[in-house]
Amino acid sequence: MTRVALLVSRIRVEEKLLLRALEETGAEVQLVRDGDLVFGPDEARLPARADILVERSVSTARGLYALRLFEQAGLPTVNRYATASVCADKILTTSALQEAGVAQPRTRVAFDRASALAAMEELGYPVVMKPVVGSWGRLLARINDRDAAEAVLEHRQVLGGYQHHIYYIQELVQKPGRDIRAFVVGDETIAAIYRTSAHWITNTARGGRASNCPVTPELNDICLNAARAVGGGVLAIDLFEDPDRGLLVNEINHTMEFRNSIDTTGVNIPAVVARYVVAQAELATNSQKFG
Ligand SMILES: Nc1ncnc2c1ncn2[C@@H]1O[C@H](COP(=O)(O)OP(=O)(O)O)[C@@H](O)[C@H]1O
Ligand SMILES: [Mg+2]
Repeated sequence: MTRVALLVSRIRVEEKLLLRALEETGAEVQLVRDGDLVFGPDEARLPARADILVERSVSTARGLYALRLFEQAGLPTVNRYATASVCADKILTTSALQEAGVAQPRTRVAFDRASALAAMEELGYPVVMKPVVGSWGRLLARINDRDAAEAVLEHRQVLGGYQHHIYYIQELVQKPGRDIRAFVVGDETIAAIYRTSAHWITNTARGGRASNCPVTPELNDICLNAARAVGGGVLAIDLFEDPDRGLLVNEINHTMEFRNSIDTTGVNIPAVVARYVVAQAELATNSQKFG
């Protein structure tokens, strides 16, 4: 029987669904709360007896460090640290997508207010500036002109912590009032939704409406390329439909929410994830035995 450790901060709808789906595969599931963990990196102390760990922390930082430390202690994880650490950081994601030749919005990275302003002017307004680490559309700024640019840059400099002194800037992609969220599990794009909103930020956490999006061969191709670019696993890929360039990958999420996408797509996302997790655990066990 596969023993799965489910790493959580608290049990949201997603964790409840995953727990049930994992148990339905016959796996034994152990809940591990990230707030309870103490690692002893120098003594190979393993805080959980399990065959595999599934990371579902609400906190990005806790999730990443836990993945690294569990991995070091010899436990296979979903996702892997290497993948999660790239997805958690928009600059590292952009760099990985670029390296793999995956289409994405025009993006600039700058480390200084003056160079950030110059980058915005060069891209041409409106531009979008985002925190390098973040989700749910928080602290995204759509900047329509130079006055707004100067104001946002000054606020960041004066009020923001050091992470906010790194400037990640993109062109505002002219989307058709919606964007696409696709779910990749292993080698398959299992489902996708459109997120439609009157607001330019379409996150469902911000009121975007979800509807089914057919997984065309084109969508499947770009999603699998994007997933491979960050090392693969269980991933949610955000894409834009650009009128001229076609599909562009915006970002990749490594601990995705999916509660609004099961009924919408008719795909039992937690069940597919659970089967993948068990298969990964078996692969790891076999490679230890025979490898
Ligand atoms: N360059 C852009 N052009 C147009 N819309 C954007 C752009 N960047 C972000 N958005 C909108 O804002 C949402 C949140 O941005 P995203 O980069 O996914 O950050 P988060 O990690 O907070 O979800 C996207 O889903 C999209 O609707
Ligand atoms: Mg997003």
